[in-house]
Amino acid sequence: MGQMAASLAHELRNPLGSMDLYCSLLHKDLVDQPSSRELLEKVQQGIRLLDGIIRNCLQFSRDIRLRPEHIEDIEPFLDDVVESARLGTGCKDVVVSIEVAPGSLYADRSALSQIVNNLVRNAFEAAGEKAGGEVVISAGPTDICYRIIVSDNGPGISEELLPNVFEPFVTAKRQGTGLGLSVVHTLVAAHRGQVSINSALGKGTSVTVEFPDEFLETGTD
Ligand SMILES: Nc1ncnc2c1ncn2[C@@H]1O[C@H](COP(=O)(O)OP(=O)(O)OP(=O)(O)O)[C@@H](O)[C@H]1O
Ligand SMILES: [Mg+2]
Repeated sequence: MGQMAASLAHELRNPLGSMDLYCSLLHKDLVDQPSSRELLEKVQQGIRLLDGIIRNCLQFSRDIRLRPEHIEDIEPFLDDVVESARLGTGCKDVVVSIEVAPGSLYADRSALSQIVNNLVRNAFEAAGEKAGGEVVISAGPTDICYRIIVSDNGPGISEELLPNVFEPFVTAKRQGTGLGLSVVHTLVAAHRGQVSINSALGKGTSVTVEFPDEFLETGTD
């Protein structure tokens, strides 16, 4: 079943990737037709949402094989993730700040993209619930690890839900699968890292991910 899910997910992601690309090309052509552009953005939002769900399902159903490398400059990478989350959630008005301190991170690129994508998407979905929504992403080395923090000033998480958010299929969203944070947890653990979440109702949420400077084991965790 796991193998079938993995190959189905792979087959589904390819046409979605093409559709996303064609939408981007068409978006450029429609520069003087804002209402058509808006419809196209909705289509692309659906495509990104589906791709995120399939990607998390794929991760959930397969062994983890990491190919870690030293990543020198994560700022352009974070810019891409933010753009994709903005498009994927349709939250145009959320204000984002990115603070990156110099230093390199040792991680698998694809896993890192999935970790940060899930965190930033959650932050956008939370911050987008009200006017004045803000997301802050900070990244940089500490004495013993590389730390990434994603914070938002959204509604926060209730005390009942908070201890369970890293469990698969725990969701409070109408359109959520509840796989996002469980995949984040699994991928961070595969890097021998730590993930923690702080949240205050009505104030916001902050998720901290710490990657050790180097880890020896790669492969299934
Ligand atoms: N930044 C956040 N602010 C408020 N609630 C959050 C935040 N991040 C996670 N949560 C809560 O934790 C739950 C689980 O998050 P998770 O990312 O695992 O799943 P999801 O976002 O519901 O669905 P999916 O990520 O699969 O689309 C969410 O439904 C939400 O209730
Ligand atoms: Mg999520």
